Amino acid sequence: MKILVIGASGGMGRLVADRLEKAGADVVRAHRAVGVDAYTGAGLAEAARGVDVIVECANNITQRASKAIDFFGTVAANVSEAARDAGVQRVVCLSIVNAAQPQVNSKMGYYQGKARQEEVYRRELGDRVILFRTTQWFELGATMLDSMSLGPVGVMAHMLSRPLAVADGADLLADVALNGGAAVVEVAGPADLDMLDVAREIARRRGTPRWVLGINFGGKVIRSGALRPDGAFEVTATTFGQWLDQTYPAAVGA
Ligand SMILES: NC(=O)c1ccc[n+]([C@@H]2O[C@H](COP(=O)([O-])OP(=O)(O)OC[C@H]3O[C@@H](n4cnc5c(N)ncnc54)[C@H](OP(=O)(O)O)[C@@H]3O)[C@@H](O)[C@H]2O)c1
Repeated sequence: MKILVIGASGGMGRLVADRLEKAGADVVRAHRAVGVDAYTGAGLAEAARGVDVIVECANNITQRASKAIDFFGTVAANVSEAARDAGVQRVVCLSIVNAAQPQVNSKMGYYQGKARQEEVYRRELGDRVILFRTTQWFELGATMLDSMSLGPVGVMAHMLSRPLAVADGADLLADVALNGGAAVVEVAGPADLDMLDVAREIARRRGTPRWVLGINFGGKVIRSGALRPDGAFEVTATTFGQWLDQTYPAAVGA
């Protein structure tokens, strides 16, 4: 099976590509640094030639709604066109649980972009697209601290989620890419957690930033549980404690 992974140098894309290769698939790793730009379309048709499945994990981190909607909507349209032209069996789009709901994303520009992404794929590919949605990853705590710290002070939003380890998500995403699945697959971690507490524990284990301030961002729904799945979902195994011990082994027992 030949599988194109778009965003293959990113946090999720790299892990999925590794798992697919290990399972024996012929993997094409695509991202801009290797000449495939899913936003402009450059190199996309060539990358999709002869491919059976596309896994789309591209990302553009912005909170500006117009930018997010433009990026995710344009990439979805370009990937859909390339998939149709190449006769690809299915496209698996990596998305976020409940981000497409208007009551959840009304104050979250990035999530509005994810809503547009899902809408375009559904419209363009119908039952040839699988929306693979996960909750927030434990790793997001570190990513956000790294982008929102000033000296010893970091900032993190209150987000009540049911987060998971990206590695567990990659196992399931690779399985769906290889074997197919329902039109929507939702995945969440083993327990409810506020992402502020996740970030604070990461900071404690790393020793930086020294203080993590909690902020309210994105509206009340974001901190009161709307990011957790409403219906049936796959539960991943790795607990936050296990993930911390694996990720920051030097700090175990500290
Ligand atoms: N973080 C979370 O908690 C979470 C939870 C659920 C879902 N998600 C979703 O998971 C997806 C992947 O996130 P991530 O954190 O793994 O991403 P990431 O680490 O930011 O990596 C993004 C990837 O996209 C590529 N890329 C960016 N622009 C591109 C373009 N125009 N054409 C082709 N490739 C492009 C990048 O490579 P180049 O720069 O070389 O192009 C890179 O490989 C996102 O859609 C995100 O919404 C994230």
